[in-house]
Amino acid sequence: MTDSKRKILVTSALPYANGPIHLGHLVEYIQTDIWVRFQKQRGHNCTYVCADDAHGTPIMLKADQMGISPQQLIDQVSQEHQRDFAGFMVGFDNYYSTHSEENREFASTIYTRLRDKGHIARKTITQAYDPEKEMFLPDRFVKGDCPKCNAPDQYGDSCEKCGATYSPVDMKNAYSAVSGAKPIEKESEHYFFKLGDFEQFLRGWVDAHVQEQMIHKLNEWFESGLQNWDISRDAPYWGFEIPDAPGKYFYVWLDAPIGYMASFKNWCDKNGVDFDEYWNEASNTELYHFIGKDIAYFHTLFWPAMLEGAGFRKPNGVFCHGFLTVDGQKMSKSRGTFIMAETYLNHLRPEYLRYYFAAKLGSGIDDIDLNLEDFRMRVNADLVNKVVNIASRCAGFIKKKFDGQLGATLVNQPLYDEAVAAGESIAQAYENREYSRAMREIMAIADKANVYIDAAEPWVLAKQEGKEQEVQDCCTMGINLFRVILSYLTPILPEVSAEAAKFLNIESFDWDAIQQPLLNHPINKFKPLMQRVEEDKVNAMIEDSKQTLAAAAAAAPAPASAEKTPLQEEPIADEISFDDFAKVDLRIARIVKAEHVDGAKKLLQLTLDIGGETRNVFAGIKSAYSPEDLEGKLTVMVANLAPRKMKFGMSEGMVLAAGPGGKDLWILEPHEGAQPGMRVM
Ligand code: MSP
Ligand code: ZN
Repeated sequence: MTDSKRKILVTSALPYANGPIHLGHLVEYIQTDIWVRFQKQRGHNCTYVCADDAHGTPIMLKADQMGISPQQLIDQVSQEHQRDFAGFMVGFDNYYSTHSEENREFASTIYTRLRDKGHIARKTITQAYDPEKEMFLPDRFVKGDCPKCNAPDQYGDSCEKCGATYSPVDMKNAYSAVSGAKPIEKESEHYFFKLGDFEQFLRGWVDAHVQEQMIHKLNEWFESGLQNWDISRDAPYWGFEIPDAPGKYFYVWLDAPIGYMASFKNWCDKNGVDFDEYWNEASNTELYHFIGKDIAYFHTLFWPAMLEGAGFRKPNGVFCHGFLTVDGQKMSKSRGTFIMAETYLNHLRPEYLRYYFAAKLGSGIDDIDLNLEDFRMRVNADLVNKVVNIASRCAGFIKKKFDGQLGATLVNQPLYDEAVAAGESIAQAYENREYSRAMREIMAIADKANVYIDAAEPWVLAKQEGKEQEVQDCCTMGINLFRVILSYLTPILPEVSAEAAKFLNIESFDWDAIQQPLLNHPINKFKPLMQRVEEDKVNAMIEDSKQTLAAAAAAAPAPASAEKTPLQEEPIADEISFDDFAKVDLRIARIVKAEHVDGAKKLLQLTLDIGGETRNVFAGIKSAYSPEDLEGKLTVMVANLAPRKMKFGMSEGMVLAAGPGGKDLWILEPHEGAQPGMRVM
């Protein structure tokens, strides 16, 4: 080991306790978990804590809607979150809740210390108030017409149409998203954290503890001036009451990051660890927060300032990541790409996604795309065809011909040494969160191992007389290279790696263990470690996702769950304006030709006549129609859909059909008499 044993505390952001974990969240939890597993494999003392973020208006209102108490809601969601995280092998040392006694105490301590040092100000402000529900309304819970462009049904903080930002009291035709009542203006005294007091400190701190790409953003924030931060909310509110202000509560974001401390304290108490050693101002331990870039402001400004003001240690690093897109677009409920963790797990193995994310993740804040086709091909090519293949090509011979015993020497020592030597660079890549580089370097070793086995051809040697020793030798090489590769992949693939350890008959994959090759060593029977990702499983997951979300949307038309903008989710069957609708150019089309497409399971190729113009369209209606049934029929098409390049050619529009799918799918058929090219209205 190059560096001595480090004491490291690691956190991921605390997910809100009012919604399910989805694949977007998992970018973060998988990224963090890989880092933690790597540190543990290196022999460091690394602790990973998290919790549900259990306070705030959206949680209070959601529980209200469901007719249960907030406590019941957060208990239920906590179970679901922990089930999903476990399903993806996210190995927290402790998973807690911000609604805990530990957190109440730390929040109170930090607030009191800040107040006593003069960092808390009070000011009376005017806010939108729901007279029916008798509560102040967060901006997102007021809707109305944009004061700038008059767009209807905008949120109380900004207009999605023209981009204007404003205060809800300036909106026209404002109404409460909670009760529908017209909000009134009401005054109340609020408590503010004076962030500006820490400007000097923050400017210095940020430079050394935040990624390059983030610093630009932070500089913008510094330039626009650090505003006082409103940390109080009036009753009714679901959270902690402010100790010296009855009826006033800490805003959810005040106690949320303090939840990192609380979860760790809870773990310390259970494990006899000294909390203060980790959190005192001069602590020698390390602290890292993994977060999404949307919550950087809270973690790189408010949080270090609060810690500084209250006399606690500051993080050694705040690591921001980008957002997940699916097939190049924002996750979408209607496209079925808003995929919940649970839905994924019903169809696919978690380690596929862990590997795919790792193969795409760097240390920066760029968004990462889950391209479903690339996902399948990448996992199959790298993990199944390259890595697992090495073991499956060698294991049988060792088992059958040599009673499971590896040989006494490495016949290609330089190749083995090269694979082991790569470990240093791979470790550095993990340490710096350059996982994609680590994966490239690991796959390069796997390529070399395969080239070696291809050339050695144990399956040919095995049939020749007097070549026994050579067979054992090259398979011993192959198995040892496989062990090195699996050691490097252990942070990514915990279950595969545990299975591989059983096969290799070793205790574990301590990072340095590969320094000693496995020689004269018995191995166990090889079982296939990973199946290919099948296309139909991926498709089934997308279908399932559409259905699950349609059901969820029908069951709970809840208001936006946002304590922060922007919202990531796109609601299913979102209302569109008449103008949006009018943009869709629907035309009568005659199907002049319908043909099978070579290699396509679902598509038919249609040639459509829309009155003097022909269009080539691929339609997913093969399950319900034979080509000969279609020729000559009239149907309706979207004529101004942007052309889309598909595997089989360009599709220039879309045909409308209705039904649940499979055999039950009907294209729309206008009456005879309608003419190709007519507009549908
Ligand atoms: N509760 C706050 C965090 C408080 S931390 C003291 C919160 N919760 S969240 O559930 O909305 O998000 C949790 C984490 O998941 C955040 O770091 C967020 O950036 C991340 N992600 C949520 N959706 C995401 C994507 N679509 N893509 C990548 N990360 C995403 O924020
Ligand atoms: Zn507007």
